[in-house]
Amino acid sequence: MLVTKQPVLRKFWYPAIPTTELSSSPKPFELLGEKIVIWLNAAGKPAAVQDRCCHRSAQLSIGKVVDGNICCAYHGWQFDSEGACVCVPQLKKDEVISASYKVQSYRCTERYGYVWVCLGEPLIDIPEIDEATKPDYRLLHEFYEPWKCAALRVMENEFDLAHPTFVHTTTFGSEEHPIPELMKLTETEWGLHVHGVLGVVNPELQQQNLKMEAKQTFRTLDMTWFMPFTVKLQITYPNGLTHIIINTMTPINDSTSQMVQFCVRNDTEADTKSSDVVAFDRAVTLEDKHILETTDYDVPLSVSQEQHMFTDKPGIVMRKKLAALLKAHGEVEQTKSNNC
Ligand code: FES
Ligand SMILES: [Fe+2]
Repeated sequence: MLVTKQPVLRKFWYPAIPTTELSSSPKPFELLGEKIVIWLNAAGKPAAVQDRCCHRSAQLSIGKVVDGNICCAYHGWQFDSEGACVCVPQLKKDEVISASYKVQSYRCTERYGYVWVCLGEPLIDIPEIDEATKPDYRLLHEFYEPWKCAALRVMENEFDLAHPTFVHTTTFGSEEHPIPELMKLTETEWGLHVHGVLGVVNPELQQQNLKMEAKQTFRTLDMTWFMPFTVKLQITYPNGLTHIIINTMTPINDSTSQMVQFCVRNDTEADTKSSDVVAFDRAVTLEDKHILETTDYDVPLSVSQEQHMFTDKPGIVMRKKLAALLKAHGEVEQTKSNNC
């Protein structure tokens, strides 16, 4: 599936940029192949429009913010949050700005410390992460970086309980547990849920982070997939610690995704330093990245094109649900072969 060629994917929300990166200067971002510019308007709210001036096509993101509007660096035209041109310095005082002077604007809002953007009419809301707002949990921002792979490959990987033994060899993968003890899948309207138990190694940094001396332990996993490219991975350890990873692979274009990951935990900085939590998750994600960036970005939704085993069931359900979504919106899966 080539994500930029499936219009229905424009009807979902994606985190585009951490709110901390938005200041007085505009920031460019590419979402599903669409170049956009994001900035803070006069009310301090994020705004997103097409990163292309309607006058002579200059990139608006190299301009500046003036009175909460984005100001083009070429001739100084200004556009508001709705994309309407509100200032043309070359017009005489009594001249009215034509309504055709406008750029495409997009829905844009803040959640969990990120600016989320939807390029179309949203089919569903931003995934609800209850724990992110609970007082006994803390939210740690982890990673924001481009990965050279398809978002769907990462979604499948998160639910693939056979890969840790081979991929996470320096972190938690256990040779003694090549398959999960338990894997129970439930489909939901807009995704799926897997309840699983996996035996894992508990290396030294994790022994400190988890306050558990055992060299092996079991992770109880509650994994939720939110269509199309967000996963909530809740890990509960025998000592009661809950570590929840929220990862969205925001599709930049067909072959690249912006990895946006934060975690929510029911412990405190005094229990475990956030830098240690991030250090362990960094090592884990780099192990995944190393493999996933070697995979084909044109992930086939048809299950006949790759081979499968029982631990691939969540990925197979994802492919089927995405295929059904395309069909429901009158779309045919676009691939490299039918686009050459
Ligand atoms: S190209 Fe933007 S104002 Fe001229
Ligand atoms: Fe992994």
